[in-house]
This record gives sequence, structure tokens and C-alpha cells, in this order.
Amino acid sequence: MAGKTQFGSRIGLIAATVGSAVGLGNVWRFPAEAQANGGAAFLLIYIVCVVLLGIPVMLAEFSLGRGTGRDAMGAFKKLAPRKKWWVTGLIAILASYLILSFYLVVAGWTLEYLWQSLTGALYTTPLSAGNEALETSFRSRMAEYISGSWEPLLATYAIIAINILVLLKGVEKGIEKFSNILMPALFVLLVFFCIAALSLPKASEGLAYFFNPDFSKITPTTVINALGQAFFSLSLGMGILITYSAYYPKKTNLVGTAFTVSSLDLVVALLMGMIIFPAVMTFGLDGESLEGATLVFVTLPEIFASMPLTRLWSTLFFLLLLVAALTSTISLAEVSTAFVSRQFSFSRKKSTLIVMLPLIALSSLCSLSQGVLSHIKILGQNIFDFLDNLATNLMLPTAAILSCIFLGWIIPKSFMKKQLTNNGKTNNRAANYVILIIKYMAPLLIGVILAAKFLE
Ligand code: PHE
Repeated sequence: MAGKTQFGSRIGLIAATVGSAVGLGNVWRFPAEAQANGGAAFLLIYIVCVVLLGIPVMLAEFSLGRGTGRDAMGAFKKLAPRKKWWVTGLIAILASYLILSFYLVVAGWTLEYLWQSLTGALYTTPLSAGNEALETSFRSRMAEYISGSWEPLLATYAIIAINILVLLKGVEKGIEKFSNILMPALFVLLVFFCIAALSLPKASEGLAYFFNPDFSKITPTTVINALGQAFFSLSLGMGILITYSAYYPKKTNLVGTAFTVSSLDLVVALLMGMIIFPAVMTFGLDGESLEGATLVFVTLPEIFASMPLTRLWSTLFFLLLLVAALTSTISLAEVSTAFVSRQFSFSRKKSTLIVMLPLIALSSLCSLSQGVLSHIKILGQNIFDFLDNLATNLMLPTAAILSCIFLGWIIPKSFMKKQLTNNGKTNNRAANYVILIIKYMAPLLIGVILAAKFLE
């Protein structure tokens, strides 16, 4: 059963893990953060965060997963059977489930926009109406759509159905095969967009904006934002990497894999910057906020509308976004599926349904909280934003910090060392650094993020 499930190839396990890492975080969070925090200055800090903290924490999760072959909670139970450390795994699993409930909704929006690009329904306001009218129309269309009742729900259910289909097929025939097809497609699309963006008239100004560091914009908050972005983008603290690495073969080089996955994740973020900034400069939209949803559902459609072959570009872009979002939802869903299957010894089919069916209700709540249920507030936020903040700002760093303390202080250091070096065969020097970071620096820095979020 779960213990013997494995990815079939190295490419496959990397495609699946990168599939989880590359998501809306790269496409719409990264450019917005870069814009707000001094362009390349943010990029530099971000890279330092990935190398110093992201990769080590990823390796901590890989060690837990591959070393035990269990789900996110089972890994802690196996290593410390009589202690309560499994709570860490439980927090991670709950965080991933909550994140999934609203991520499915957003993935649904991208599906709807893909459909409207294909049919042309998105582009009914003529270009001659002028930039302002165009912007207003995209803005109100988005507001109307996401606050609607049926349309966003249907799209969300379609995403849930795709998740169920992939998960039912299992790890090798489902998740791995799906990622093996979609991830290369995503990279091809990205490169294609990048070439197009770089041939725009004001490409060099856009690049200059992105690659010129404005260090005056750097504050302690910038560093905290960069750390938060690194965690979210690498899918840390949600049990995803523990779950996936439990399917890695014994011979997998964990250090090499973490390096490859983080580099590819970074490349996608960079390519997105190289696409977005030349485009917004060329079309005079650089003053607009690139904040997530507005960027993809308002600003980019404005740009596509001004380009020849509007529908084609728009369709390809929302396809790219959908692929990025889908592979992330699948990794989130697998965390709970693996957990249910192992804890209760249920079949894959039963576990998948037990995990996915309640999401129909939960993600409906998230979706409706943008419209008819927007009056329901928890701590002053609608359901969607509340779950987002609770899971990403609180539960995710908590699970990450506890995992580091567990590996660094509670169980013997030799456990992680063995995993990172494949029993002393490779990476001995790197393993020592990583263990030091996990023991001292990671708990400290993640603690600072948590404290900062609390004080906010
Ligand atoms: N890492 C994904 C991204 O960058 C987001 C994600 C978060 C995926 C949580 C899974 C879980 O968008």
C-alpha cells in the first residue's frame, strides 16, 4: 500500500515536485512583491532567502518523508512514537486542506477566463473605447464574475473533478503522468511568452525596472515578505514535500533534487518578471498595481486586448495559469489523501473521495464569500481571506518551525544526515551546513516571521 508507492522516474518526481512549487505564487505574487519592494533588490533578498532557508527547510521535509515513507503526520509518529510531535504533521495537513479550499476557487477563475478567452467573450469592449474604458470594463467584469453565485461555483467543481480523476489514478499513473505532460508544456509556454515580451517596444525599460535594484525600498518588512514568499512558493510547511518525498526511491539524491526544484521555481518567477515588466511598460500600465488577481484578470487582459491575436495570447496565458494552479491543487490534495489512506488503511479510491467531497462545501463557502456571503466576517475578514491568513501566515510557519526543531533537537541528528548523504555516500559537507541551519538559523528566522505576523 502507501509504503510501496513510488514515483517511477527521476524526471517524474521532479516534475511533480516542481508542479507543486510552481503556482500562482510565481505568476502573480512574485511580480507584485518585486514591484512593491524595489525590483531587483527584492530579487536579491529573495534568492538569499531561498538558498539560506528555503532549500534547507525543503531538505528537512524531504528527510522526514523519504526517511519514513509515511504521510505528513505518520512521519512524526514513526520517528517519535510516544511523543506528541505528530501534532506538527496535523497542523501541516490542516493548513494544506484550508489552502486547498480557496486555491480550488482561484483555479476555477482561471478556468473560466481560459474559456472566455477561447470563445472571445472576454473581449467584447472595443479597443477604440480607450484605455480607461477598457480597464473599467475588465475590472467590473472580474468583480461581477467572482462575486457571482453559480458561474464561479461551476468552475470550482470542474477543478475538483479534475483533481479527483488524477488522484484516483494514484501516484505514478496519476500525479506523475499528469505532471510529466503538463510541466514541460508550462515551460514551453513561458519561454514563448518571454520571447514575445522581449520583442515589445519598451522591453528594455521593463527589464531595467525589474533588474535595477532600488535599495532604498528595502526595510525589515521587505525581508519578511521575501521569506514569506520563498516559503509559499516552495510549498513549504504544508506537508506537501513530506508526502511527495515519501514516494521518492531510496537512491534519490535529496540535496540535488532540492536544488533542482528550487532553481526551476526561481526560473519561473524570473521569467514571469521578464514577461510582466516589459509588457506593462510598453502599454503604459506600469503605474497600476500588479497586485495578484488584478494583474492577471485586469491588467493582462488589457494588454492582450491591445495586441494582435488577442484571443490566442489570452487563451495561451490562461492555459499556462491553469496548469500552474492545477498541479499545485493536486499536491495539496495528495497530502490529505495520503494521510487518510494511511491512518485508516482505506483504499485510494475511498481516501480520495473522503478528502475531496467535503471540499465541495468548503470551497463553495470560499467562493460565495466573495459575493452573497461577503457579510460573514471572521476577525473582520471574509471567509476566503480569513482562511488564507490563518493557513499561510500562521499555520504554515508554525508547522515549518516545529519540523526544524524536531529534526534539529528532538531526534538524533544522524537521521537527517543519513537521508541527505544517502548513508554517507554523497553530499557530506553540504549535509553538515544544512543541519546547522535547521538546528539554529531556521527556527530563529521563522520565529521572527511568526512574531512579525502576530504584531501586524
Ligand atoms: N507553491 C505554490 C505557488 O507558488 C503555491 C502552493 C501553496 C502550492 C501551497 C501548494 C500549496 O503558487
